[in-house]
Amino acid sequence: MLSAGPQQLRLLSCVTILLFFHAIVAKKDLKSACSTCRQITDNFNKGFDRTAKQNFGGGNTAWEERKLSKYETSEIRLVEILEELCESSSFDCNRMVEENEELFETWWFKRKTKNPDLHKWFCIETLKVCCPKGTFGADCTACVGGSEKPCHGRGVCDGDGTRGGNGKCSCDHGYKGDLCLDCMDGFFSAERNDTFSLCSECHTACKTCDGPTSQDCDECKEGWEEDDQEACVDVNECAKDPPPCKENQYCLNSEGSYSCKTCDKACSGCSGAGSDKCRSCSDGYRDVEGSCTDVDECSESEAVCAREHQECVNNHGSYTCVCSAGFHEQDGECVQAQQQDPTEEPGSPEGSENSHEEL
Ligand SMILES: *[C@@H]1O[C@H](CO)[C@@H](O)[C@H](O)[C@H]1NC(C)=O
Repeated sequence: MLSAGPQQLRLLSCVTILLFFHAIVAKKDLKSACSTCRQITDNFNKGFDRTAKQNFGGGNTAWEERKLSKYETSEIRLVEILEELCESSSFDCNRMVEENEELFETWWFKRKTKNPDLHKWFCIETLKVCCPKGTFGADCTACVGGSEKPCHGRGVCDGDGTRGGNGKCSCDHGYKGDLCLDCMDGFFSAERNDTFSLCSECHTACKTCDGPTSQDCDECKEGWEEDDQEACVDVNECAKDPPPCKENQYCLNSEGSYSCKTCDKACSGCSGAGSDKCRSCSDGYRDVEGSCTDVDECSESEAVCAREHQECVNNHGSYTCVCSAGFHEQDGECVQAQQQDPTEEPGSPEGSENSHEEL
């Protein structure tokens, strides 16, 4: 016969795991249950306002008055409000309303006068899925910094207003620490006491600082360096040796950084933008009054397209030799185009190109 020991053990560990997950899910559920509950009570209040003028014909007779006052507290009005509490697609909302229909009746007929705040009565005190503002968790513990100013007004308290969460602060940008009273790197403390902190941004030159100017840096940001007055100043990366940009680029310095830009195509090396900032000219260009200018190879004294029926076409930095009109290239020669069937489209356009670089 098999011993029951291992099976019991397995069962036990299953239960443990289940309980463990249940605890995690329950904690998260409490936050979302509270937001569902808040949505319901918000919609209840909206429904209450919406139905306030209903069943009121606009007249002002005694009969109308009586009818209105009867409707005000009627079951009919309650049902009309309850019908509009949830989107039909919201499962959690509809379930919460269905499971607690009797509670709404109780409040409507018996508690409303003494406890006019439905959210407080329903979500916080009765269902216990929410807590008062500034408190969190099973016992509605006050957030760090107190419920009036959770996280000292510089962050969000985890689970604030719900029965879930752990009360930890997520600090606003610029603030850090459990209490959100410390300043993040890049910020300095402009004002501080035990309950209040104001962190201001450092000068753009500083990584860390204790004041607002570039002289108040504790450490310079990357791309900045300390000068002889102990201020952080921009590093001119472009003046560095070796130069930071590639051969055919020029360098542009900027605050805290630099960039490399490609030289004009007329240049072979340059000190800036444009064909007048070349160190020397590219092939096919020559210096004309301080600016690298395209050479018109076609008008050089020596003919560059020397073959018969060939023409020269200049372009930027170079030229091409093409066959003259009525001729096309065949085996490296420009031959007269055959007068073929005129309806037939020629295979290639006349004057097929022949770049001199390929020759
Ligand atoms: C802390 O500083 C704030 C802002 O200056 C002030 O309102 C508050 O009274 C101060 N609290 C204490 C305990 O000094």
